Amino acid sequence: MASPQGTGPMKGIVLAGGAGTRLYPITQVASKQLQPVYDKPMIYYPLATLLEAGITDVLLISTPDDLPRFRALLGDGSRWGFTIRYAPQPRPEGIAQAFLIGEDFVDGDPVCLILGDNIFYGGSETERAVAEFESGALIFGYPVRNPRRYGVVELDADGNVVSLVEKPERPRSNLAVPGLYVYDARVVDLARALRPSARGELEITDLNRAYLELGELRVVRLSRGVAWLDSGTHDSLLDAANYVATIEHRQGTKIACIEEIAYRRGLITRDHLAALVAAMPPSGYREYLERVVLAEEFTG
Ligand code: TTP
Repeated sequence: MASPQGTGPMKGIVLAGGAGTRLYPITQVASKQLQPVYDKPMIYYPLATLLEAGITDVLLISTPDDLPRFRALLGDGSRWGFTIRYAPQPRPEGIAQAFLIGEDFVDGDPVCLILGDNIFYGGSETERAVAEFESGALIFGYPVRNPRRYGVVELDADGNVVSLVEKPERPRSNLAVPGLYVYDARVVDLARALRPSARGELEITDLNRAYLELGELRVVRLSRGVAWLDSGTHDSLLDAANYVATIEHRQGTKIACIEEIAYRRGLITRDHLAALVAAMPPSGYREYLERVVLAEEFTG
């Protein structure tokens, strides 16, 4: 996964700030991305997506109030065999601001940005596309019933971008752009050139349009076999939790179990995993990981 400049491997940014007003009163004392989605904190899901794509150097951006809580939950990542650093976003001034806050972190490498409330599950299309990224910008298109509250992308028969509009009144397609974006190192300069939109944000759609104007925006249309859930409202949070519970009960496996992913990807050894498990309080989560350690053949 070398970058076009031949510098380092791809880095990952999880943007987990924002106000979470739609989840009021849940978000009064801890941010949206710290809330549970069934059996684990929401932030585990986007972190798992980055890990599955082979990314092991992560910057987590959140509000100054919430950063200490994320740090308490995740630490520096070393117990899971990867690196997490932290940076504050004082005010929610737009998703593209992540690249200004993360400028030193990006440091000339390609970077994958994921929003802290986006959950991807199923297939390996996203992870594969991220892992195979070479240059320019890569975003995804996902069919939804009501695309109005997202960035909406329109593609021609060959998959070329015809239009890309943020929260359109009259969407020209049903393809929403999920909160998972991959860019080469030019993203920092392009983000710096953005001006705030009418709603006062540095818009990720404007950043993607900058790559589109360079002729370097690629869109991968996700198939219906992939589940993309966001969890920003009470109902979508409950839907996401029910979805995760249904799959986990049926299969007897867990979605976004960070320890398991780190182990299966070779970031930690089985002995290390066993030590992590031994330190966990009795819980369904611990029991699951005990099975991963002892009876791998049933969960692989
Ligand atoms: P939104 O859902 O647009 O905003 P929000 O989370 O603040 O929620 P609400 O509308 O209920 O107030 O943001 C999508 C994701 O991006 C979410 O995970 C928060 C994150 N985000 C930031 O961290 N910083 C920002 O400046 C913006 C705009 C979003």
